[in-house]
Amino acid sequence: MTSIDTNTAATDPSLWWKQAVVYQVYPRSFKDTTGSGLGDIAGVTAKIPYLKELGVDAIWLSPFYPSQLADGGYDVDDYRNVDPKLGTMADFDELAQTAHAAGIRIVVDIVPNHSSNQHEWFKAAVAGGPGSPERDRYIFRDGKGPNGDQPPTDWIASFGGPAWTRVPDGQWYLHMFTKEQPDWNWKNPEVRADFIRTLRFWLDHGADGFRVDVAHGLAKDLERDDLDDFTIIGDDMSATDGTHPLYDRNEVHDIYREWRKVFNEYNPPAFAVAEAWVHPSRQYLYASTDELGQVFNFEFAKMDWIRDSFHTAIEEGLAAAERSGSTSTWVMSNHDVPRHASRYGLPQVPSSSHHQLAKDWLLRDGTSYTEDREKGSRRARAAILMELALPGSAYVYQGEELGLPEVADIPWDQLEDPTAFHRVRNQSEKGRDGCRVPLPWVAADTSADGGTFGFSPAAKVAGAGVTASEAGQPAEKPHLPQPAWFADYAADKEDSDPASMLNLYRKALQLRHTMMPTDTSLTWLDEDRSSDLPDGADGQRGGVIAYRRSNGWASITNFSMSPADLPEGTILLASGPLTDDGLLPQDTTVWMSLN
Ligand code: NOJ
Repeated sequence: MTSIDTNTAATDPSLWWKQAVVYQVYPRSFKDTTGSGLGDIAGVTAKIPYLKELGVDAIWLSPFYPSQLADGGYDVDDYRNVDPKLGTMADFDELAQTAHAAGIRIVVDIVPNHSSNQHEWFKAAVAGGPGSPERDRYIFRDGKGPNGDQPPTDWIASFGGPAWTRVPDGQWYLHMFTKEQPDWNWKNPEVRADFIRTLRFWLDHGADGFRVDVAHGLAKDLERDDLDDFTIIGDDMSATDGTHPLYDRNEVHDIYREWRKVFNEYNPPAFAVAEAWVHPSRQYLYASTDELGQVFNFEFAKMDWIRDSFHTAIEEGLAAAERSGSTSTWVMSNHDVPRHASRYGLPQVPSSSHHQLAKDWLLRDGTSYTEDREKGSRRARAAILMELALPGSAYVYQGEELGLPEVADIPWDQLEDPTAFHRVRNQSEKGRDGCRVPLPWVAADTSADGGTFGFSPAAKVAGAGVTASEAGQPAEKPHLPQPAWFADYAADKEDSDPASMLNLYRKALQLRHTMMPTDTSLTWLDEDRSSDLPDGADGQRGGVIAYRRSNGWASITNFSMSPADLPEGTILLASGPLTDDGLLPQDTTVWMSLN
């Protein structure tokens, strides 16, 4: 039995996030109100009633700031503004008000490891020249070799290619991601102060908190001569002692302790969740109460539909949360990984493989393995019930409530993800666009939306990304192409089908609100159930995952080919039908109230 006694929203509203359902909006692909082909902020506001009916507690908006979109908006030109392609500050204020009126909180994405190369301070750094105070805000170094024409280190950036780019005066700047994303120098006090200003700016505009991008990367130590012993991508990201020159250094926590003081000036205190790909033994540091408060636990997002993997991930996630004094987070999909409805329909690979098989399938435009959509959907239904009864917060990625599969066959010349453009990298990966295709809202292919499944209007409307003189012209095509089969997953179609994924999510979220106990303890009911049942159809180990919460709310999932019996109690919700004799079939979850 794992038992964590901690406050929850029920006892202290300022801790609303401890067991919240947070819905991730990827704004460019959510809803386009102007026909620009890009989703916009007004589109999120327009869909607040949908999100309210879905039953989410908060939305997290991926970056919507001015950006040239070299990395989907994670290349920020101006941290304290809305991208004119997506709207205005007035649109943001309206969104915050509308969401709050509906009881939905707003979390914005903050990108503190790097800006874009169009940021005013980066342009000033290039213009300022070596040794200038402007240059000190970023990480510039002289190159190696007699003419300094070799990069300072051999590092390969996250999306491929060298991690250093040379400027005309001969110096090189560091970018752990694309060359359009120069890394900030967090030793510079102006950088630190400017981010504090940005935090206050969004909190003063009604944001309730932040998702912190690359939270483990800010503090760097480049004043040493063993830099080439390390890499930007690879295993040594999980060094466990804070000595890596780029990641998870101990000093990074000073930054978050400073941020926490700012967060605590607000009532209720601002919330934050760290994106920190660090060794599990150090995740708790980011989530501790004097720092960000919560950290993403990506274990579910990394794994296939394997009973023992999930069981271990739950145990470890709960233990890590207990160590930080926070609650765990559960994430199956986000804008960086192939959608889980597809992952679960592909051949399953035991152990965390970082989606090697799914990535290969994408690289070959969905031809190298057969995707069994029916199986993927059945497992996704079972998975969400298993996830939503767990203690802690659940992060739902837009479209997963529709059971949307990955779009594997986007033509290569229409891709946007930088991964797809790098000569070496794109031989092993196609990138992340397949989970970022604009959402289908309406099944019928009508002239009213130019055949975009309700994503865009048919004709342009003056507003985000559309000038007054362009109004009335035919809308642009969605920025990534939607396949014809998106009609089957459209929100309006699922709305009218009681058995749809959307209606399962709605029922589950509604029940979760009534059933969620105020404590975060969990009792396993399945200790001896991993190996007593036959293996599953595609080689996975059989067994069930079953647990109960302190109030008798229980979740039971069967991974095995053999139907499993259920404990005494009342069935509250099931992800699929039981067998004729009342047993739990493979790939099915039930929620029960135990006697
Ligand atoms: C993590 C974000 O989730 C990802 O989309 C982005 O490419 C990198 N950080 C760089 O900002």
